[in-house]
Amino acid sequence: MENYGGPEVLQVSDIAEPEIRPAHRRIEVTRSGVNFADLLVREDDYLTGVPLPFIPGNEVVGRSDGERVAALMRGGGYAQVSQAPDLIIFPIPDDIDDDTALALTLQGQSAWHLLHTVLRVQPGETVIVPAAAGGVGSLAVQLAKRAGARVVAMASTPDKRSFASRLGADALVDSTSDTLAADLTEASGGGADAALEMTGGETLRATMDALAPLGRMSVYGGASTMETPVNTRELMSTGKSIQGFWLPLLYEKRGILTEAANDLFAAVRSGEVRVPPVTVYPLTEAARAQEDLRARRSVGKVALDPAT
Ligand SMILES: NC(=O)c1ccc[n+]([C@@H]2O[C@H](COP(=O)([O-])OP(=O)(O)OC[C@H]3O[C@@H](n4cnc5c(N)ncnc54)[C@H](OP(=O)(O)O)[C@@H]3O)[C@@H](O)[C@H]2O)c1
Repeated sequence: MENYGGPEVLQVSDIAEPEIRPAHRRIEVTRSGVNFADLLVREDDYLTGVPLPFIPGNEVVGRSDGERVAALMRGGGYAQVSQAPDLIIFPIPDDIDDDTALALTLQGQSAWHLLHTVLRVQPGETVIVPAAAGGVGSLAVQLAKRAGARVVAMASTPDKRSFASRLGADALVDSTSDTLAADLTEASGGGADAALEMTGGETLRATMDALAPLGRMSVYGGASTMETPVNTRELMSTGKSIQGFWLPLLYEKRGILTEAANDLFAAVRSGEVRVPPVTVYPLTEAARAQEDLRARRSVGKVALDPAT
């Protein structure tokens, strides 16, 4: 990426291998994860800017020093050779395949920490999960069920909602409904205890309205690009709370990232979490992969094969 902009700014180039920085490891990449944030970075609409020229990609799986690893990073992932800080490289157990490990890395960690570190979901609580057929959402549905919660899943199409139902969601709501607040409230049995929120605008408003008194919401995205003012008097009078979440804030906290990674692997092993299909595009079609994600065409995880 030599400029910010549309999909056309993504170009495949042969360039020198990266110089490995201190406290980093070189990774031969077998799969690069595509995440919603990659689109926002490309369009210069992310939380932080990036230095141009820039190689997108914030997660990979591959080989490092003879070990199979999954890694988080801040750019550089859409490549055959990458690097990541030691602190956010995780060995992949032998019984977990590369695609599963990739799906559990950025999106798995996000779903896990949203539910357990931020919202601290308890058994018997009702939780609203948006984009429930997506990368983060499909894992959040299953992790919330595993935590003993009742899950109200939102998605924009009947196919995505039936996918969420097969993942274990208890109630399904059309995220494009004109009566979203009422639909969510009814599906939550009068009000939800906790909610994930990644859309902003009217969806944030409706989700907030569907929380029960003292309900908690975590904001981790803004796919609609709409800013939503928050009324602090309303927070006072309802006892509702809103907490932000940004995974990179945990990148120095190796302990809880490892705890989440191990728990995610255990959940897959026990069959409590099934990783949804991973759709793999050639690296040369990274633009198409991003645009499918943008156009809401994807289900589950989107990835790139850097060998093709
Ligand atoms: N803060 C963090 O640390 C963090 C970490 C990871 C992800 N995220 C955020 O989590 C969200 C999901 O990320 P992901 O990579 O797993 O993507 P994803 O859910 O696999 O794909 C995005 C989904 O978002 C929904 N969506 C897209 N555009 C939308 C719009 N304009 N309005 C409402 N919904 C829209 C669509 O689902 P429907 O068609 O079903 O609505 C779409 O399939 C993104 O907002 C991302 O930025 C945040």
